[in-house]
Amino acid sequence: MCGIMGYVGKNDATQVILNGLAKQEYRGYDSAGLALRFDDSIKNIKIVGRVSELKKLVEASDFGGAVPASGMGHTRWATHGGVNVTNAHPHESADGNIVLLHNGIIENAREIRVKLEAEGVVFASDTDTESACQLLAKLYHGGDALPAMTKLCDSLTGAFAFVILIRDRPGEIWCARKGSPLVVAHDGGASYCASDPTALLDYTHDLFFMEEGEIARLTEDGCGFFGFDGSPREKQSIFLQWDSVMADKGHYEHFMRKEIDEQPDVLRLTIEAHTDITSVDMEKTLKLPPGLMSRISRVQFVACGTSYYAALTACNLMESLDDTLNVRADVASEYRYRNIGRGDDTLAIFISQSGETADTLSAARIAKSKGVHRIAITNVRGSTLDREVDHSLLSLAGPEIGVAATKTFTAQVALLSILVLQLLKLRGALSTTDEARLIGGLRSIPTKQQAILARDLDIKALAEKYADSKGFFFIGRRENVPLTLEGALKLKEIAYLPSEAYAAGEMKHGPIAMLDEKLTVVAIVPQNDLREKMLSNVAECRARNAPIILLATDGDDGVKAIGNDVIFVPATEKELFPLLGVVPLQLFAYHVAKTLGRDIDMPRNLAKSVTVE
Ligand code: AGP
Repeated sequence: MCGIMGYVGKNDATQVILNGLAKQEYRGYDSAGLALRFDDSIKNIKIVGRVSELKKLVEASDFGGAVPASGMGHTRWATHGGVNVTNAHPHESADGNIVLLHNGIIENAREIRVKLEAEGVVFASDTDTESACQLLAKLYHGGDALPAMTKLCDSLTGAFAFVILIRDRPGEIWCARKGSPLVVAHDGGASYCASDPTALLDYTHDLFFMEEGEIARLTEDGCGFFGFDGSPREKQSIFLQWDSVMADKGHYEHFMRKEIDEQPDVLRLTIEAHTDITSVDMEKTLKLPPGLMSRISRVQFVACGTSYYAALTACNLMESLDDTLNVRADVASEYRYRNIGRGDDTLAIFISQSGETADTLSAARIAKSKGVHRIAITNVRGSTLDREVDHSLLSLAGPEIGVAATKTFTAQVALLSILVLQLLKLRGALSTTDEARLIGGLRSIPTKQQAILARDLDIKALAEKYADSKGFFFIGRRENVPLTLEGALKLKEIAYLPSEAYAAGEMKHGPIAMLDEKLTVVAIVPQNDLREKMLSNVAECRARNAPIILLATDGDDGVKAIGNDVIFVPATEKELFPLLGVVPLQLFAYHVAKTLGRDIDMPRNLAKSVTVE
C-alpha cells in the first residue's frame, strides 16, 4: 500500500513527482504529500485528499521562483494513525535534519518512540513512520549517510520501503527496502525511485528492482546499492517491455472500463504465447526439472482476492482431469496455518497480479522453507514474487490501474488453464482429446469475449434497472462457483453493495432466508450437464419473490421464462465458461457502480497492491 515517487536530477522535480504520484494513486489515496529540495531548504507540503488537490496546492505555492532539483512524494493508505495532515507523509525529524516517507509497517515503532521520547524527542504524528524518521536523525551525525542508514535498517522490525532526504546532503536521495516494493532507475541525467514500475516508464524501461535488505543512494549521476551491512552491491537492471501508453486512460472515463475492453487482446497474446493450434506448447516458457511432474503427488494453488478465485478455477480444472493428484486452492493468508506438507512431492503455484502481495509472498517463503517446488504467475516482471520463486510465468495483461482486477483475472485463468494442461501432459495424465478440445476452446475465447463486449448497452440497461437492489446473491455450481465469488467481489469493491456468492445447492441450507423482492439473484446457468439442477435452484429463489438475472448460453431461449432478465453469452467448453461469464459480471458491476456515482477506479478503503499482511 502507499505510492512513492522520488527524483534527483537537473529538471524541476515538482512535475516528475506529481506525475509519478498520479500514476500510483491506486496504491493508496487517503492523503498525499511531497517534499521539494531547494538549495538551502526542504519544503514539505501535505494534504488530506487526492493527488489532484496536492497539485493545486503545490502550483499555488510561491517558492520565490526557485526550482527544486530533487524531491519525493507519497500517497497514503493509512495503517497507523488516522487520516489527517500531520499523519500524512513525508515526516520530518524534530531537528529538521531528516525528511522521510515510508510504505510498510514498522512493528517496533512504539518501543523506539518511547525510548526517543524519554531522551526528549518531541513527536508530531501518531504514525509508526515517524519513529524511523526520528531515529535516523539520532543516528546521523553528518557526512556519509550510509552508516546511519545501515544502523536504522538494523534497528527496525516489520516492513519498509523508505525514501529519505537529508538536509545537509543536497543532490542525494536515500532509499531502503525490506518487505515493501521499491524500484529504482537512472536515465543519464537523473535518478528516480517509485513503488510501481509504471510510474517510471515515461523516463526509462531499464529498472533496478530493489531486493530485500538493500539500501540505495541516488544522485543525478547514478544509483549505488548496498546491503544492510553497508557492503556495495552490483545490480543488473531489468528491461520492462510495458509501454507508458498502456497505463493511460485514453478516451475512457475509467481505467476499469478500458481494462475490461482489453481482455480479448490480452487473452490472444497470452494464449498464443503458450499454445499451438491443438496443443499446449510451454517448452520455451517453462523449464521444469526432468521427472518433476511424475514425482508430484500434491498441487497447491495459493493467492488472495481475485487471484484466489483464478486459483480456485485452476484447481477445479486440474482435479477434473487427473484423479490421482491431491489438488487444492488456499487463500495465501491462511496457507501458513496449514500443514502444507514437505519435500519435493509437492508443487505450489502462487498467483499474484502485482507480485507484491505480502500474504502471497509470505506463503511462497513458507513453501520454500519446506522444500516445496514453486511456480508463480504474476503480471509484473521483476516483482518480488517473480524473482523469488523457482519458475515464473507472466500473464501478459499489461499494466492494470483500476483497483478492481479485470483483465488480469482472465489472463490468469487462461494462463493457469494452459499451465494445468502442460503439467498434466508432462505427467502423462492428459488425453489428446481433452488437450485439443480445451486448447481449441481457449483459442476461441477472445472472439467470444468480443461478442459479449458488443452487448454492453444491454448490460448497462440491466445494471441501471437493478442498481437500487439492497443486495445481490450470485449462485452457480462446480467451475462456476469461483465465478460467483468474483462477480460478487466486483460489486462489493466498486459499488459497495452487499453481495454474496454461494454454491447454488447451499442456498436452501440458510441464505435463502434472506431473499425477498429487493434482493436480486444472479444465477449462472450455462447449457451444460448441471443446467437442470441450476434451474431448480433458481425456481426456489423465484418462489421467494427474488428478482432473477440469469447468465445463460446463446440460443437457450427456454430460460427466458424462468428469469426476470437474461444475459446471454456464446457457448464454450464447460470448463472455460468462467472466461466468458466473468465479462458481463464485470460490466454489470461497473455500470451499477457508475449509476450509484461511486469512485470506480479508486474505491474507498482499498488499495491496488496490498503490501501489508
Ligand atoms: C481484486 O479486484 C482486488 N483488487 C484484490 O482482491 C486483489 O485481487 C488481491 O489483493 C490480490 O492481489 P494480487 O493479485 O496483486 O496479489
